[in-house]
Amino acid sequence: MESTSRGTVYIETYGCQMNVSDAELMYGRLAEYGYQPVDQPDGADVILVNTCAIRDHAEQRVIGRLGELKRFMKPDTVLGVTGCMAQRLGPALLERAKHVDLVIGPDGYRALPSLIEGARAGERVARVDFDLEEHYEDFHARRFDGVRAWIPVQRGCDYKCTYCIVPMTRGPERSRRLADVVRETSEVAAHGITEVTLLGQTVNSYHDGEHDFADLLRAVGAVPGIRRVRFTSPHPNDFSDRVIAAMAETPTVCEHVHLPMQSGSSRTLKRMLRRYTREGYMECVARLRNAIPGLALTTDIIVGFPGETDEDFEETLSAVREVGFDDAFTFKFSPREGTPATRMPEHLMVPDDVASERLERLIAVIREGTRSRNLALLGTRHEVLVEKVSRRGTLLQGRTRHHRTVLIPGKESMIGEYHTVELTGTTGSTFTGAIVSARQALPMAG
Ligand code: 5AD
Ligand code: SF4
Repeated sequence: MESTSRGTVYIETYGCQMNVSDAELMYGRLAEYGYQPVDQPDGADVILVNTCAIRDHAEQRVIGRLGELKRFMKPDTVLGVTGCMAQRLGPALLERAKHVDLVIGPDGYRALPSLIEGARAGERVARVDFDLEEHYEDFHARRFDGVRAWIPVQRGCDYKCTYCIVPMTRGPERSRRLADVVRETSEVAAHGITEVTLLGQTVNSYHDGEHDFADLLRAVGAVPGIRRVRFTSPHPNDFSDRVIAAMAETPTVCEHVHLPMQSGSSRTLKRMLRRYTREGYMECVARLRNAIPGLALTTDIIVGFPGETDEDFEETLSAVREVGFDDAFTFKFSPREGTPATRMPEHLMVPDDVASERLERLIAVIREGTRSRNLALLGTRHEVLVEKVSRRGTLLQGRTRHHRTVLIPGKESMIGEYHTVELTGTTGSTFTGAIVSARQALPMAG
């Protein structure tokens, strides 16, 4: 470890929690090499833009942002692009943006300190090799959230859904060893963190050669001090009976699953190569709900996938009503270069105005469902973990075990505490609440 100051580093992260977690690893690694984290780009010695490639929109934002960042750069500032878009574009990004010095994919962060040194000496490098052994086990993540921690348990993806760029940007699936995940969980618990979210592209397919996701949930859930365990995102096909039993039997595992459905039409699901039908998805939902009464479910849905007809879309709407999701992220299909969906026949492509209209209708149906379910919850009591001061600044923001957002009055010193809260109002999507009794976030035994 070196302690000489090498200046400041600013990382701007786009995309999913996995990227947020990778940024924490990069900050940690660079801190060990003498770089001090800063929270704005202005004047930073090193600026890293940690990117997402999932939709074209995400990439366009980054391209725009790279241009904007020029005005914060000193003549010797090193500008690097990391993450999924870096992996996807590689050296082409160096060609396209001449003020970018480094392009580093998700498996290349071990080399960050030396690549930055090289860039300072005038080198421009793209490093986009996959490293199937790389889990950054010896990195010490620099966490900025003192209440919750994201713990990567798996990198890459083997599913190859036809719309998805992730297998190309993050490579094949590999899992960390259970003992390493438990060690990291114990470390964050020792720092007073009581909630962990296990991260993986298809997190419930976790397998370290010896232990499956059921073992992992039970082991992490039993770490002293941990009161809440979440995970994202699972694939419906990987909810084995063992995994569902582990969820049901581990008291710290929260009663919420984010279960990407993508479409409610079996025809579309087949074209997406999701490997389940509408009925298969519904069966998974039923098994989960049977084992975990009151389970909250959220999802991801894509509209306008090639070949999606009006009837297919109607089936998505009816599936949304049938499941009764608590919330959903909705997307218009975005063709990603190199994925199988882009090679489907031209006549199957859904015109943009049709996709936009479907998206609007879908969002309206989801909102309506969320609203009526949330109204029905008014007056009920929930354990809320206070996470932060809300964006408007006057209230505290926390979450129930079911992942519902609740705003409550209180002091900043309550961040990290658990309180029993009665839900008193709802905007339709989030709640306001009143504390009915207080419990401190003291580490619990076992
Ligand atoms: N176009 C639109 N949405 C996509 N997603 C993944 N790839 C695409 C794409 N090409 C969505 C899926 C996934 C979420 C993270 O992003 O719904 O679950
Ligand atoms: Fe995360 Fe996927 Fe975006 Fe990569 S492409 S940052 S894995 S959402």
